Amino acid sequence: MSPNSNFPMRRRILRSGAALGAALFTTPGLFAEQLVATPSSTEGPFYPDHLPLDQDNDLIIINDSTTPAVGEITHLTGDILDSSGEPVRNATIEIWQCDANAVYLHSADSGRKKNQQDQNFQGYGRFETNSKGEYRFRTIKPVPYPGRPSPHIHFKVSKGDRELLTSQIFIADFEGNKKDGVFRRLGDAAAKKQLQTTFAPVKGSSIGELAAHFQIVLGRTPDERQLKNDRKSS
Ligand SMILES: [Fe+2]
Repeated sequence: MSPNSNFPMRRRILRSGAALGAALFTTPGLFAEQLVATPSSTEGPFYPDHLPLDQDNDLIIINDSTTPAVGEITHLTGDILDSSGEPVRNATIEIWQCDANAVYLHSADSGRKKNQQDQNFQGYGRFETNSKGEYRFRTIKPVPYPGRPSPHIHFKVSKGDRELLTSQIFIADFEGNKKDGVFRRLGDAAAKKQLQTTFAPVKGSSIGELAAHFQIVLGRTPDERQLKNDRKSS
């Protein structure tokens, strides 16, 4: 190998580096492509087998009942973005979780724990994102249950008849997370971090309400790409 043989290669690298730099400055949205998609996780066995009549985003009150669910009231808010950072509007987000007594709205669970079920907890809710891709729910802070030491809120995002993401929201730094099989299988520390959020006291709340914010980034599927192109061309 001659002493200069590396030079053309080096020049090629520099040139491609310059080209890349130019591309970064001239391609709109390229930096935004850095958003990492929210990891998926198992749906689990307790997506309601019979959806409740009341499917709104307030899981604390069923219909116009005056008795709220038992548990720490939590205002869960967030937004849904695509991988380029654009809000995903009119997406449907569904959440479901067990009640404060660890009973799911599923006959396989509530059937055998009938006397324990909190009849005032809706157990399931849905919401359609607004023009900013935002969603909101009022629910309870999730609790652990036998077999799942990590409290979690299940969620599913869909648009039209396409399911885009199924995963779970965990409590940041909750001790039981380390012992939870589903949590442990989420992947590396970054993936685990993405699925955790804090449940912080709402300032001034006399009844100890909590607030949790959870952002969802959807990975781009070919269908979504097609949708985008359709939108542009329409
Ligand atoms: Fe669960």
